[in-house]
Amino acid sequence: MKIEIRTARHSDLEWYKLLHSDEAFNRWIARRINDPQSMEDEFLFKLEAQCTRRGVFAVVDVDGTSQGYGVLLFSVTGDSAHVEFGVDPRYQRKGIGSLLLEEALRAGNRIGPGLRIIKAVCHRDNEGCIRLLRAQGFTMSTVAGLVKPPLYVGWQLRVGAQERVS
Ligand SMILES: CC(C)(COP(=O)(O)OP(=O)(O)OC[C@H]1O[C@@H](n2cnc3c(N)ncnc32)[C@H](O)[C@@H]1OP(=O)(O)O)[C@@H](O)C(=O)NCCC(=O)NCCS
Repeated sequence: MKIEIRTARHSDLEWYKLLHSDEAFNRWIARRINDPQSMEDEFLFKLEAQCTRRGVFAVVDVDGTSQGYGVLLFSVTGDSAHVEFGVDPRYQRKGIGSLLLEEALRAGNRIGPGLRIIKAVCHRDNEGCIRLLRAQGFTMSTVAGLVKPPLYVGWQLRVGAQERVS
């Protein structure tokens, strides 16, 4: 299995829409997008963020075919960001999600020197996502109103200057 990670491009739109139409994939997703136009709008928003360095939009190709993505979007001030990631259900549990999260964090820290906190939202029973976030050092967030409690839990990772000093 040849795994390659790269930045997203416009031609990824069709598989991105297919992935987000897959019931198995959507099982744990808090904010489901059901119609093709909204999927396209969201895809273009992420692509634009990648192009203008207001975010990261990474894609994994397995044997030349796209099978997963990782996104990091900066807040307006640039001191915080939100990450999300997804892998085609047929390719899950092969380490691809971990690769994508690592890449989103690495690239996010590189293009956003002011970044201090990275946030994620995850269903409380989404074991794969929880293991992945914990492995990267994320901890559960207690910030009220961040997500839809009690099913969806906020996670956060502190990065940047404070971490380097200690
Ligand atoms: C969450 C998700 C991205 C994980 O991707 P993945 O490619 O399967 O992740 P990995 O193979 O890198 O596995 C990461 C860890 O989680 C574990 N894991 C993955 N899926 C699991 C599952 N369903 N149940 C239990 N553990 C699981 C792996 O064993 C691995 O643990 P380890 O590092 O201790 O061995 C994938 O399940 C997915 O796309 N889900 C749907 C979308 C989603 O929920 N996104 C997250 C919200 S933003």
